[in-house]
Amino acid sequence: MTSERVSHQGEWSGSLTFFLAATGAVVGLGNIWKFPYVVGQNGGGAFVLTYLLFVVLIGLPIFMSEVMLGRRGRQSPYNSFYIIASEDQKSRRWAWLGGMVSISGFLILSYYSVVGGEVIAYAVRAASGTFTNQSADGVKSIYNTFRDNPEALLAWHTVFMVITCLVVSRGVKHGLEKTVKILIPALLGLLLILVAYTAYTGSFVNGASYMFDIDFKKLLFARNEAGIYILDSNGSYRFTFKGILTAMGHAFFTLSLGVGAMMIFGSYLKREVSIAKVAMSIAFADTLVAIVAGLAIFPIVFTYGLSASQGPGLVFTTLPIAFGSMYFGSLMGTAFFLLLFFAALTSAIALIEPTVIWLVERRGMTRVQATAWAGIACWLVGIISVFSESGVTLRRIFYVLAGFLDIPDIELSHQIFDLTGFQIIDSVVTLVMLPVGGFLIAIFAGWIMSPQNSRDELNLKNDLYYKIWQALVRYIAPALVFVIFVSGLIEWIYKYLVYQPVM
Ligand code: PHE
Repeated sequence: MTSERVSHQGEWSGSLTFFLAATGAVVGLGNIWKFPYVVGQNGGGAFVLTYLLFVVLIGLPIFMSEVMLGRRGRQSPYNSFYIIASEDQKSRRWAWLGGMVSISGFLILSYYSVVGGEVIAYAVRAASGTFTNQSADGVKSIYNTFRDNPEALLAWHTVFMVITCLVVSRGVKHGLEKTVKILIPALLGLLLILVAYTAYTGSFVNGASYMFDIDFKKLLFARNEAGIYILDSNGSYRFTFKGILTAMGHAFFTLSLGVGAMMIFGSYLKREVSIAKVAMSIAFADTLVAIVAGLAIFPIVFTYGLSASQGPGLVFTTLPIAFGSMYFGSLMGTAFFLLLFFAALTSAIALIEPTVIWLVERRGMTRVQATAWAGIACWLVGIISVFSESGVTLRRIFYVLAGFLDIPDIELSHQIFDLTGFQIIDSVVTLVMLPVGGFLIAIFAGWIMSPQNSRDELNLKNDLYYKIWQALVRYIAPALVFVIFVSGLIEWIYKYLVYQPVM
């Protein structure tokens, strides 16, 4: 049975506009800020390969499922699940899944906006020539001073959130398409110029081979970490699932899956458009940007003796060095951070849109009211990440509270207390909520929605393609997500809540 539903929010004008808008949502800080640092923290090539496998085996089929479900339901994720489940006489409680994924997007935006704010601040710095002729140490200390300044971070976080809300309150469709048409090619162009520049730095080969040399030992064994004790040669290397789980979580994150974003974008998609084709082109564009970003960043890491595993500051401490020493560096730096800001903005819009539409549909708010409420709430949660930047861990928070409440001498030796609020939100969302959301979406698309309806909505040319998609969402993706997620979770609990390092 063909669905004749229409979206109240209008439609994309065609498959190209959908491609551009969805690419804008997918390409963002995840590709340029997060991808290089998670590659660095997980040892390089083997992580990249694992991530690519997950993009194909889990990411693509779930991407297609989300767009398909959104287009079928034509409303917010919550209502779309409700409608499709009712259509197939299945439990309407599936609507809760739509609620859960929207909350994941909301939580991601809370810290995404803090990093987005840092990106704007860096565009301003690059424009004012702050990085010109700076040494690697100079660039690092600029970054550290910035991170230790919660007022400044909060101000930039506010700027980013206000801009996001202004765009969302006017409706996603107007403006977004035009922006990404220029933006994504320009961003890729600038990254390629940076790669050409780093090709002359001497360490290009080291940078490239770091990303492509496949050494599974680096992914699967961690030194002095509380991994699962399967292989414990002389007590220092332990087997760990963390890298694999991170690769899977990142595949979800970078493809904007498990947060309802692709469902809501799919809900504005015309029926004639081939979901499979656009999904593949979008995943390809996303991966390309991430790989090129890595090729621009890692050579700088090796040339200047920086640490690849330093974490979230990687992009802010590597690229400014290149901008500081190249011709027209200030101009290039400004352009780069501005483009990155726009890429972050087009993703931020997609992160908050499901919550906004949900408020519009369920609470009867106008788009402007819904955006304001969602924006304020998200801004408040973002304050946690602002303080995390200056190193406020759970332990510090507990000690302060204990001081207030006059509780003497509490012992906080579990490693969970070393984490910051940002790390906790990011891990809970990327390593738990996205995989769980993705798993349930696959189950819904593969088992709950009737094959008759999914076949009709996907409308693949060849029935063999449909069978492949079906096998992926029914068996392969859920099984992989389940096994990796459960192993990773057990390990996480062991590492942070059970294991106590000798102090
Ligand atoms: N995919 C975006 C990025 O890589 C992040 C994002 C996640 C955007 C989920 C929308 C929804 O930056």
